[in-house]
Amino acid sequence: MANWQSYISGVGAFVPEKAFTNFDLEKTLDTSDEWIQQRTGIVKRHWADDDVATSDLAVKASEEAIADAKIDKHDIDCIIFATLSPDHDFPGAGCFLQEKLGLNGIPAFDIRQQCTGYIYGLSMADAFIKTGQYKNILLVGAEIHSKGLDRTPEGRNVSVLFGDGAGATIISSKESGGDNDSHIISHDLHADGAFAKELWIPAPGTANGADRINQTMLDEKLNFGFMNGRTVFMHAVKRMSESLAFTLKSNNCTIDDVDLFLFHQANLRINDKVGEIMGIPAEKVFNTIQDYGNTTAATIPLGMRDAVKAGRLEKGMLVGLAAFGSGFTWGSSLLRY
Ligand code: ACO
Repeated sequence: MANWQSYISGVGAFVPEKAFTNFDLEKTLDTSDEWIQQRTGIVKRHWADDDVATSDLAVKASEEAIADAKIDKHDIDCIIFATLSPDHDFPGAGCFLQEKLGLNGIPAFDIRQQCTGYIYGLSMADAFIKTGQYKNILLVGAEIHSKGLDRTPEGRNVSVLFGDGAGATIISSKESGGDNDSHIISHDLHADGAFAKELWIPAPGTANGADRINQTMLDEKLNFGFMNGRTVFMHAVKRMSESLAFTLKSNNCTIDDVDLFLFHQANLRINDKVGEIMGIPAEKVFNTIQDYGNTTAATIPLGMRDAVKAGRLEKGMLVGLAAFGSGFTWGSSLLRY
C-alpha cells in the first residue's frame, strides 16, 4: 500500500474591496489611529457589503487556490471550512460553498476553533490524506466579522480589531518523498474550555434559557462578541510560544532551521512577544495585521497567499504556523511548503 503524504498544492485569498482605515473609524467610534496602532499594529481592515455572505468570500479565495494548484475543481474530493461566522446557524457554510463552487456530492465539513481553525483544519486534512481517504482537500478559513461587531463607541474595544476575509488552500496527496520535498510534517493542538467565556458571543444560543435570543439579550448587546483583552493577551503569548517550542523540539528543529513563521494575527504585540520569548528574528515573521486586522480562521491562509505574492514564501521552505483563539484553542504546525 502506498505511503501517502500531504502537501499544500495551491493557495488563494480574498478580502472585500471596501477598506476602513483607523482614521475612518475615528469619525464614529471615539477611537484614534494612535490608540489602535500603538496597541495592536492595525492600520486598516476590510468590511463586506450587506449583501455578501461568508461563503461568497470563500468562493473567491477557493477559485484562486484551485487555479494556483493547477487542478480541475472536480479533482477536489472534500471540503473543510473553518469559520466562526457562518452564513447561517445550519447547514454549515461548507455546504453553501460547495454548491456555489458546483462541487455537489463531496463531503463538506464545518469546523470551529475560531482563530485556531486553520491549524485544526490542516491537521484534519493531513490525517485524511495520510489514510488515503481523499486526494485533494479544499481547506478554507473565512469570516465576516463586521456584521457581528458593535460599531458604536460602546463596542470600540472589540470592533476596531476585526476584519473580514478568506484564505483557501488545496491540501493534496503524494507518495512519500524526501525530507526537502513539500510536505506537511506535524501538528500540536489544544483547547481549554475553562476560558470559554473570556472571548465569546453569548447569544443566540441554546444555553440562554427558553429563548435562543430575545429582545432583552439584544438590548444587552449579547449578540456581539465579548473579550477580556488582557487575559486573552497573556494566554495567547504563553500558549503560542509553548506549542511552537513543542512542535520544533518534537521534529528536532531549531528556530534557525525554520525559514518563515506565519502566526495568527490578533495583535502585533502578541506576535512580537512570542518572537522575543522564542528568539525569532523579526524578519522571519510575516505579519499582515496592519492591512486586515484580525480575520480569525482566514488569517493564516491569507498570510500564506500574501507571503507567496511578496516573494517571502517559496517552495521548499520550512514554515512554522502558530495560533491562539477563542475556546481557548491553540496550536502549531510545521510544514515544508
Ligand atoms: N480606542 C480608544 N480607546 C480605547 C479603545 C479604542 N478602540 N478600546 C478601549 N479603549 C480605552 C479603554 O476604555 C481604556 O480607557 P480607560 O483607561 O480610560 O478606562 C483604555 O483604552 C485601556 O483599555 P484596555 O482594555 O485596558 O486596553 P489594553 O491596553 O488592554 O489594550 C487590547 C486592549 C488591545 C484589546 C489588548 O488587551 C489586547 O491586545 N488584548 C489581546 C486580545 C486580542 O488581541 N484579541 C483579539 C481577538 S482574540 C484572538 O484572536 C486571539
